[in-house]
Amino acid sequence: MSAGRAAVVCGLGTWLPPRVVTNDDLSQVLDTSDEWIRSRTGIGQRHVADPTMATSDLAVEAGGRAMKSAEVDSVDAVVLATTTPDRPCPATAPLVASRLGLGTVAAFDVVAVCTGFLYGLATGAGMIATGGAERVLVIGADTFSTILDPHDRSTRAIFGDGAGAVVLRAGQPDEDGALGAFDLGSDGTGSELIVIPSGGSRDPRRDPDRPAEGDADPYFRMAGKSVFRNAVERMTASARKTMTDVGWSTPPDVLVAHQANLRILHAVADRVGIARDACAVNLDRVGNTAAASIPLALADATLSGLLRPGHRLLMTAFGGGLAWGSCTMRWPAVTPG
Ligand code: UT7
Repeated sequence: MSAGRAAVVCGLGTWLPPRVVTNDDLSQVLDTSDEWIRSRTGIGQRHVADPTMATSDLAVEAGGRAMKSAEVDSVDAVVLATTTPDRPCPATAPLVASRLGLGTVAAFDVVAVCTGFLYGLATGAGMIATGGAERVLVIGADTFSTILDPHDRSTRAIFGDGAGAVVLRAGQPDEDGALGAFDLGSDGTGSELIVIPSGGSRDPRRDPDRPAEGDADPYFRMAGKSVFRNAVERMTASARKTMTDVGWSTPPDVLVAHQANLRILHAVADRVGIARDACAVNLDRVGNTAAASIPLALADATLSGLLRPGHRLLMTAFGGGLAWGSCTMRWPAVTPG
């Protein structure tokens, strides 16, 4: 980012669909139990959108709340991080922008699965740094319930639906809320570890009952154990690199990491040297909400008092791609909407 101009967080909003599915609810329909899910993941429940809802509905709610929190009624661009767009084409962001009454602003989707929000933040920050925008609305929204195999206990136990958003404005690098160092990375050799096998150009079969060859698989699949190991290694390395780049010699005050699994969060915190009680944790109540995970955890940590203005904050995420990222900042005085 050029000296003298930084992207500054000035608003935060979230939205969760009202319907809650507990572990006990899941154990009524799947071979699982509250004990297994809690002890292996830390998750106790998740929110699930009604079938009438699409990702744009969640994104509009969170985006509108973020703009209210920032006390603004216009932005120059909308960046929507999602893996579950309303439709494969077009992008969902233009619809979200128009439903928010933002007129003809730039609007596009970013796909980096569970790291999507941090990629979206970096994109928005870049638009501000280069003078292409004064204000950007960055939203992370996903309805993973729409892509999960109803019979797959290993994914249904983990994922939930939700949305979170921030407003970025042009400001100074030394202000609270100014985004600091970013580290973004990817490793496509692991692209099969988190994948929806069918429905894209690699395997475009539309009708699972009439496959061209073999079985079409339109559902989200995850190789849990490999993903677990990669998540710990990549987030740890990325977090350390970001802290070095920004010049922090002591651990941050708060870690907001992608809410995939409590065991992953603790492993990353231990390796980076951050106390476990300095980690934001809301996965017990919302599960893994993919691109919405970081902003939902930011809001939760702010409302609980864990994250306060002036705190040195480290955010880190990992997910499909494989893709990962981290970002630092000093937390600003924002009231989540
Ligand atoms: O958001 C993107 C990043 N995602 C992640 O970081 C997720 C990373 N992975 C994980 O969190 C964990 O790997 C899981 C929670 C997905 C799975 O936990 P695990 O301890 O790695 O279990 P596993 O996949 O090795 O499975 C062990 C056993 C298997 O049974 P068998 O083959 O040993 O008989 C699974 O079928 O646990 C079984 N299992 C379950 N049992 C009850 C898997 N899911 C469940 C379930 N309830 N929900």
